[in-house]
Amino acid sequence: MSEPAFLSMPEHVAIIMDGNGRWAKQRGLPRAMGHRKGVEAVRETVRAAGDAGIKYLTLFAFSSENWRRPEAEVTDLMGLLKAFIRRDLAELHAQNVRIKIIGDRQSLRSDILNLLLEAEETTRDNTALTLVIAFNYGSRDEIARAMMSLAKDIEAGRLQAGDITPELINARLDTAGIPDPDLIIRTSGEERLSNFLLWQAAYSEFVFVPEYWPDFSRELFYAALEKFAARDRRFGGISAQAAAVGS
Ligand code: FPP
Repeated sequence: MSEPAFLSMPEHVAIIMDGNGRWAKQRGLPRAMGHRKGVEAVRETVRAAGDAGIKYLTLFAFSSENWRRPEAEVTDLMGLLKAFIRRDLAELHAQNVRIKIIGDRQSLRSDILNLLLEAEETTRDNTALTLVIAFNYGSRDEIARAMMSLAKDIEAGRLQAGDITPELINARLDTAGIPDPDLIIRTSGEERLSNFLLWQAAYSEFVFVPEYWPDFSRELFYAALEKFAARDRRFGGISAQAAAVGS
């Protein structure tokens, strides 16, 4: 399939990869098989995003609430992320992909943390796609950490409460330096944000895809880009077309 050439291409696409468990259940397989197949969909999506010239792709890999899952499933998801980094890092690096991790790093086991830091360090100067992996990520937790960092500066007299602006808050979030997502895709037919990029999604467009994540593909990704291209984004103003005709 050739790369799409849309009139308006998102700079940043973020994806809530949902439905691995249901995909497996539908086939009478253990949930772990859904996650395994999900990693293949991750590979295909990263390649498709790079080929389409997208600059930032954020994937919600593990939420701060996912620790509530059975221990075996948590271990399995950790193992899959580790295996993905170990197996795919060289290839991602060769494809000029920069890896960035968002989420709370403090409570991560050292083996996982070191692997994530290695992935960031190895690819830090790459200039094609930036692959943002949201791991142990929860938006409210991210905002609370940003507020704590600002409060500490106020306590220490480095900052005044009146200095706080949306830009300053932005700069303290895990996503500092990353543009807001233009498009957020969620698979599996669920239509909610689930504590993902709450601050950053202020003006994002949403595309909800009925297919489960393991069935996500280049074709479905490009179909979502096509839907995005047809949207009229106004950011609180009026459409460019309406502005041009003065109506
Ligand atoms: C949602 O399906 C998916 C997840 C909680 C994890 C997503 C993780 C991967 C695809 C693999 C590892 C990631 C990377 C970046 C290598 P679900 O289990 O909530 O499905 P359900 O709602 O049908 O139960």
